Amino acid sequence: MRLPILGLALLIVIGLTVLHFSKNVVQAPEPPRNESKQELPAPTTDSKEFDKNQHSLTELGSLWIIVNKTRPIPLDYAPSNLATPKVTLNPRKTADENQLEQGAAKALEELFASAETAGHKLMLASGYRSAKLQATYYNSYVSRDGQAAADRYSAKPGTSEHQTGLSLDISRIDRSCYLEVCFDETAEGKWLADNVHKHGFILRYPEGKESVTGYQYEPWHFRFVGKELAQELFTTNKTVEEFFEL
Ligand code: DAL
Ligand code: ZN
Repeated sequence: MRLPILGLALLIVIGLTVLHFSKNVVQAPEPPRNESKQELPAPTTDSKEFDKNQHSLTELGSLWIIVNKTRPIPLDYAPSNLATPKVTLNPRKTADENQLEQGAAKALEELFASAETAGHKLMLASGYRSAKLQATYYNSYVSRDGQAAADRYSAKPGTSEHQTGLSLDISRIDRSCYLEVCFDETAEGKWLADNVHKHGFILRYPEGKESVTGYQYEPWHFRFVGKELAQELFTTNKTVEEFFEL
């Protein structure tokens, strides 16, 4: 009898030992939380997360094409999807100039509806311009003010974003401060400066950025870039040239 009792005792000891170690393995504490956190990327507080490659900056027809004095487009380029927005149009302009790229046209309808709710009546003063029409404007300004002065507010044909159908001028219906800097003192100019980004537009030539954009302050000239980029540029207070480091 002695042997079986000893054997049983041995089995119990072995069993308890195995149970003890397996318990320890199961209950092994997790690493402290801060240790695992060290492997995560540092939190970002700026716009590093914004994907700047969503659209081409150079392709004709791209939502983010950037045209300026050093980034011309072909004189014969015209957007393939021009549309006439259902908003108050400029009766002194041709049907062509009252058009916009269709995404911009739709966004303008939303912008003007929102403005009207806030009590502001707006007019599309100038939209798409062919290079030929731009040449007519530019040449008349050069004749009137001289080339040096004209170059500060009017683009040479082939370098105007109006030719993309994505840029436009907005005015009050009564035309007070029509395409003049004093537009920014009107209730409409102020409302636009504060709200266009919500509908995908940016103030393309802000005050104090002539050395960056190549143009004087134009509180009436806006550019459609889509809501995400418009919001980002509004928040960071950057021009497209600064944001994309062009
Ligand atoms: N006024 C802007 C710069 C244009 O002519 O396109
Ligand atoms: Zn303009």
